[in-house]
Amino acid sequence: MNILAIETSCDETAAAVVENGVKEIASVVASSKDFHEQTGGIVPEVAARKQVEFLLPVLEQTLLKAFGTKSAQDQLDALAVTVGPGLVGSLIVGVEAAKALAFAWHKPLIPVNHLVGHIYANFINDPGIKFPALVLVVSGGHTDLVLMKSHGEFEFIGGTLDDAAGEAFDKTARILGIANYLGGAKLSKVAAACRVNTITGTLPRPLVDSEGYDFSFSGLKTAVKRLWENENLPVEVVAREFEDAVVDVLVAKASKAAQDFKVVSILLGGGVSANGMLRARMQKEADALGVSLYVPPVRLCTDNAVYIASAAFFNQNYPDLSTISPNPSLEITSNF
Ligand code: KG4
Ligand code: ZN
Repeated sequence: MNILAIETSCDETAAAVVENGVKEIASVVASSKDFHEQTGGIVPEVAARKQVEFLLPVLEQTLLKAFGTKSAQDQLDALAVTVGPGLVGSLIVGVEAAKALAFAWHKPLIPVNHLVGHIYANFINDPGIKFPALVLVVSGGHTDLVLMKSHGEFEFIGGTLDDAAGEAFDKTARILGIANYLGGAKLSKVAAACRVNTITGTLPRPLVDSEGYDFSFSGLKTAVKRLWENENLPVEVVAREFEDAVVDVLVAKASKAAQDFKVVSILLGGGVSANGMLRARMQKEADALGVSLYVPPVRLCTDNAVYIASAAFFNQNYPDLSTISPNPSLEITSNF
C-alpha cells in the first residue's frame, strides 16, 4: 500500500511516499528556517506564506522521485496529512491541499497527529517493535512520556510543566551566542568540544528526584544565563554542563517509567532525539535494564513526511473529508 503524506505543521514543508508504512520510496523536505533565523524566531505568517510557496514544488518533486512522473495518482492508495499540533496557518496549507487532492483523485485521506508521527520514525525499516513500549517524544514544542500499548493505543504518563526540552536547547543556544534560532544541534556540537565536564552538577537537574514523570526546563535556562553572565567559563564547558543536565533528567525519568510500567521497548522521537549524548546515554540505560532501545535515523528525527505516512499506515482511519480540519493544540493522546 503506497501512501503519499504531507507535513506542514511548522516551518518545514514535506512530502513523502512510503510503502506499507515501512519502506521509504521518496521524501522531500523544504524549510523556511533561514527566514526565521533572520528574525531570531518564527513569524507564523511568514511560515504560512512559505508553506504556500513550497508545497506544490515539494509535491511535484516527491512524485517525480517516487514514480518518475508527476501524474502518479494511480500508484497511490491513500493520502495522509498532519492535522496538528502546530501553527494554524501552516497546518491549513497542508490540510486543505491534501483534501483537495483526495477529492480530485478519489483517494481516502488519513489524518495524522504530528506527535504520533514522530514516534513512527522508529518503524521505518523496523516494523517488529514489541509492546508495551515507553515513548519519549522530545521536540521543540513537546516533552512527553507516553506508554504505547499497541499501534494507536497511547497513555500519557508525564510531560513538561513549562518549556520543552528542544525549546530549552534553543533558548540556551541563544543565551550562549551559539545560534539565534533552532540552535539545539549547534549547541550539541559546541558541547562536544568539552571532553570532560569540570563543572558537573553546577546547574540544577530539575525534578530529577521528584515523584511522577513530569519535567520542567524553564528554571534551567535561567540558571544557565546566570552562570554564563557571572562566571568566566568557556562556552563549550557551559554548553556541555547544560546538555548533561537535560540528558540526566530525560534519561532518569524515562528509566523510572520504563521500570514502573514494565515495558519491553523504549522509543525516542522528535528533534531532540537526534542528540548524540541522549542517544548514547539512553542506550546504556536500556542495556542495563535489559530492554530494547529504538532511535530513529538522525535525518528522520526532525520534521519530515516519512513518519507521517508510516503513522497513517499503522493507524488507518478514513473520516469523511469534510470533517478533517487543522487542530493546532492537538495532544499526543487526542483523537482528532
Ligand atoms: O521535532 P522537531 O523538528 O520540531 C518540532 O516538532 O518541534 O524538533 C525541533 C527541535 C528544536 O528545538 C531543535 O533545536 C532540536 O529539536 N534539535 C536538537 C538537536 N537536533 C534538533 N536538540 C539537541 N540536539 C540535537 N542534535
Ligand atoms: Zn516535530
